[in-house]
Amino acid sequence: MKTGSLIIVGTGIQLVANLTLGAKAWIEQADKVLYALADPVTAKWLKELNTTAEALPYNTNNQRRKDTYREMTERILTEVRKGLNVCAVFYGHPGVLADSTHVAIRQAREEGFRAQMLPGISAEDCLFADLGLDPGRNGCQSFEATDFLIRRRKFDPTSALILWQIAMLGNLGFYKPGEHFRPLSILTEVLKTHYGSDHEVIVYEAAVYYPVCEAVIQRIPLSKLPESSVTQVSTLYVPPQALAPVDKEMMARLGMSVAKETTKEEVL
Ligand SMILES: C[S@@+](CC[C@H](N)C(=O)[O-])C[C@H]1O[C@@H](n2cnc3c(N)ncnc32)[C@H](O)[C@@H]1O
Repeated sequence: MKTGSLIIVGTGIQLVANLTLGAKAWIEQADKVLYALADPVTAKWLKELNTTAEALPYNTNNQRRKDTYREMTERILTEVRKGLNVCAVFYGHPGVLADSTHVAIRQAREEGFRAQMLPGISAEDCLFADLGLDPGRNGCQSFEATDFLIRRRKFDPTSALILWQIAMLGNLGFYKPGEHFRPLSILTEVLKTHYGSDHEVIVYEAAVYYPVCEAVIQRIPLSKLPESSVTQVSTLYVPPQALAPVDKEMMARLGMSVAKETTKEEVL
């Protein structure tokens, strides 16, 4: 194993309140800390924790943000190749919708360095808590919104649906406020065929500056989605449309007692 290592940690969503003790210890011990964070308060705190902390380059001159992420990965690996123990810090869970972190870990290992990712609290974890959604209740499907549309992802409307990056629909570049009205109409059109116009959906924003601010929870009929207030950090939650019926034959095969009018709710 070569000298030099990479650990990637997440700060969670709510300032430093979501940071694990494990992540904090790695930040403190690192020879070099690099970060990509969504708020300046956490960045300032990070610099107090480790004076080597430096922001990763976020070049918005690129046509595609994928190229910017590649530059971030390269910046991380440059420090590891110097033989330093590097801690890269990302907001949320560092492995959720964060291309550059997975690539950096793979590349570092391929080059013979120790590399590991620690889990963090993602926006989806905050959503579970704030909206009272238990993903084990009816199942939970989670897609990046553009991927959901362009790959025509198969999904089950009797199960919860979470769509990430709804403000970035069809956008391979960078966020521009107000550019999502037309793409959101297309998403609405697709969802309507499965749920109907009146189905209640939630445009969700976890409170970053907790406890000063509260989560933004907009409950609206699906038809109103294009006019709703959507920002770079909005995530869409589509509750199940109905309960899935149970397969009584399967229950019998599993040795479960089969009541005459069993619903899934009563079973589990
Ligand atoms: C590039 S992804 C980063 C996700 C992050 N790594 C995580 O673990 O949550 C950005 C997307 O995450 C979601 N997101 C980020 N911050 C959020 C917040 N405060 N509330 C709700 N969703 C958020 C939104 O869907 C946003 O478009």
